[in-house]
Amino acid sequence: MTSPGRSSPQPAAGRGAPLAQRRLTPVFVILIGAFGCAADAPAERRTPDALTPQGSGARIVFDEMVWHAAFGGLIFALVVGLLLTILWRKRRPVPIPDDAEARGIRWIWAGGIVLPIGVLTVIFSQSLASLASLEQLAEPDTLEVEIIGHRWWWEIHYPDEGIVTANELRIPAGEPVRLTLTSHDVIHAFWVPELHPKLDLLPGRSNEVWVESDRPGTYRGICAEYCGLQHARMQFLAVVMDTEDFDEWAQSRAEPPSPPTTAHERRGQDLFMNNCAMCHAIDGTLATGTVGPDLSDLAGRLSLAAGIYPNNTGNLSGWVSDPQGMKPGALMPSTDLDGDELQALLAYLEILR
Ligand code: CUA
Repeated sequence: MTSPGRSSPQPAAGRGAPLAQRRLTPVFVILIGAFGCAADAPAERRTPDALTPQGSGARIVFDEMVWHAAFGGLIFALVVGLLLTILWRKRRPVPIPDDAEARGIRWIWAGGIVLPIGVLTVIFSQSLASLASLEQLAEPDTLEVEIIGHRWWWEIHYPDEGIVTANELRIPAGEPVRLTLTSHDVIHAFWVPELHPKLDLLPGRSNEVWVESDRPGTYRGICAEYCGLQHARMQFLAVVMDTEDFDEWAQSRAEPPSPPTTAHERRGQDLFMNNCAMCHAIDGTLATGTVGPDLSDLAGRLSLAAGIYPNNTGNLSGWVSDPQGMKPGALMPSTDLDGDELQALLAYLEILR
């Protein structure tokens, strides 16, 4: 950005500028600032954006939306045009024609029955075509991911790869991935606006949605169905990777994390087994709890508390000691560890990758 220098007078929204310009300039500055920040922010802070689709499913939904807006706008213009014509004619007294009643009835047929049926038929056909396009993403022998909604986090399984993780969906770019969705408790909805249409997770049944992303990138996903106190903070990250990077990740993630190597880490593991293992699982250990997220790759995840906080030592420490302070209503209870114990537990958690 250039700043207006004294020697180079520029048209600015200063005292000389017209009133409307002076009033609007701060609005533009705020808008540009907001969009600029949004574009530069890390993925976990960026506002999900369905208007810039980055994958086939989202593009079909976007095209459908544009089509509906354009067609709806056309019908709106037609109706308003007719209304204005009638109002204009009413201003001038016109002789009532002999067949006025028959004409009126024709208008009722045309505007009240034929037009709505025509419009709804066109919209319905277009929506069916979009649904059919979404189905065409389906491909056999592709990656399958099962997602289970919990209050308020996402359990994520890769059944063929033997991977269980949470709150971070990793998929390869450029190939369709089949997501099977269900819920452990109440109705949630899984949505990465840049990638695919939203779909509900229902207790006791499975829904299916296909995701295909054009290129690698990280997108923020959200729960799109009100599900209780922390609904707004039931988020996740969708990490789209190059195929080789994804294969590498899947291979390394399928292995249990390395065991602790120092006395400090081993003490942390013992503390974990005594305090946390009834709710959380870690591959290769006796911890097999299923109440909370599987923590086998905790240190490799980008966020904590279902996409809410960046995953770093400070936030992890805060989360372990006072989860209710960081996410009120979360089912995780506070732990009663002293400073040394907390440090040991954190040292152990930070080798889980
Ligand atoms: Cu889960 Cu809203």
